[in-house]
Amino acid sequence: MKENLNAVILAAGKGTRMKSKKHKVLHELCGKPMVHYILDTLEDMGTTQKLMVIGHLGETLEEALEGKVTFVKQEEQLGTAHAVMQTEEYLQGKDGITLVLNGDHPLFTKDTLQSLIEIHKQKEAAATVLTAELADPTGYGRVIRQADGSVSRIVEHKDASDEERAVHEINTGTYCFHNQKLFEALKLVNNNNAQGEYYLPDVISILQEQGEVIAASMMEDEKEAMGVNDRIQLAEAESYMQERIIRKHMQGGVTIHHPSTVTIEADVEIDADTEVFPGSSLKGNTKIGSGCIIGPEADLQDVVVADESKIRYSVIEDSEIGRNVTIGPYTYIRPNTSLAENTKVGAFVDLKNAQIGKGSKVSHLAYVGDSEIGQNVNIACGVVTVNYDGFTKHKTIIQDGAFIGCNTNLVAPVTVEEKAYIAAGSTITEDVPAEAFAIARQRQVTKTDYVPKLRKKINRHNSL
Ligand code: UD1
Ligand code: CA
Repeated sequence: MKENLNAVILAAGKGTRMKSKKHKVLHELCGKPMVHYILDTLEDMGTTQKLMVIGHLGETLEEALEGKVTFVKQEEQLGTAHAVMQTEEYLQGKDGITLVLNGDHPLFTKDTLQSLIEIHKQKEAAATVLTAELADPTGYGRVIRQADGSVSRIVEHKDASDEERAVHEINTGTYCFHNQKLFEALKLVNNNNAQGEYYLPDVISILQEQGEVIAASMMEDEKEAMGVNDRIQLAEAESYMQERIIRKHMQGGVTIHHPSTVTIEADVEIDADTEVFPGSSLKGNTKIGSGCIIGPEADLQDVVVADESKIRYSVIEDSEIGRNVTIGPYTYIRPNTSLAENTKVGAFVDLKNAQIGKGSKVSHLAYVGDSEIGQNVNIACGVVTVNYDGFTKHKTIIQDGAFIGCNTNLVAPVTVEEKAYIAAGSTITEDVPAEAFAIARQRQVTKTDYVPKLRKKINRHNSL
């Protein structure tokens, strides 16, 4: 049988330095709350049980993470050891190992946590600390090793001597414990220290003194170790996460030009042989097929794009784009729009809640909203669906092969049937039958040789 793998995530602290009404771990990195990275990684690792210790703003975590973890309340924040102690009722006496992580350290990869567990098992340790070598270790707990290299204890910055502060190997706040030994040792932790707190790292020296094996797993990439305490670290962690996401897409066969100008959120999917150009921003549940040209400056939120489509200088939200579609430059596509394959939507076109059929074109300067457009429809320059009368939204239906001339107003509700033809400048208020020609504008009046008379009239007026 597989060994129990429990996880305890500490998130009861106040997060004061964020200066936020929102719980620290719910602040987002690349479009995803930081705690989700930890939960997703743990899920991926197949943890038996995930417990989260909450306190300050705990209700907001319970709401945001409902069903994803078991919550344990820590009424008073008396320290990290005290926090872990709160999970006693779920973990006490259980077999297996327990990972302890901080909710505000979102960058650890599955590989890093797996190798922490590997080392823990290999060494048959009671506790294994994930450590990192930092150029500037200020503020962190230092890992104090014995002459033979084994870990003897962790000393907090505030409690450390000058000699101990000179150590650059730090405690990342992530540990792997033999579960039963952890809970035995927790009972022996006291708060005789600079902060008057019950320190979880004290478990290390307690177990070491009992003759247990203590191991350490040193991280390969120390950047992963960073914690987020303020908005500056939030930005640093985000750019690190962004780099990681971008590298993942590149490894998957996506070309990204000038990647430092491109934003790609965590859950975005892009197929191989798509190219992303500078200034693009791909967010939410956006999914892009292969062979697409995205950008420059394509801003996509929750958009699904099929293969071979091209989107330049445009903003698209919550919509579906078919195969071989051309969009932009300067198109705004609002929610609930779908463009079937081979459609073309051009400059200064605004679409909202519009379904556009195969091969149809809306090439320039048009507004199409609350509309159902068939196949091979041509919507010429300046067409407006008049979908709102100040009270309610109404629908415009244009069937296959219809031609809507320039500067037409389609006053909805209205239907233009198959292959109907609407003359430029028309204001259409009634349905147009199939194959019909509709023209709804005033006839032109042309007065021959009238300009000289007009000129005289104006001059006379001006000299008065
Ligand atoms: C802790 C470690 C330190 C390590 C550092 C890594 C201790 C005493 N020190 O220090 O060795 O280098 O992490 O970042 O553990 N929390 C609770 N309840 C509490 C106190 C804290 O849930 O009563 C939570 C916090 O929300 C946070 C985590 O535990 O997620 C760490 O607490 P924090 O006070 O930030 O510890 P550090 O001083 O950073
Ligand atoms: Ca602290």
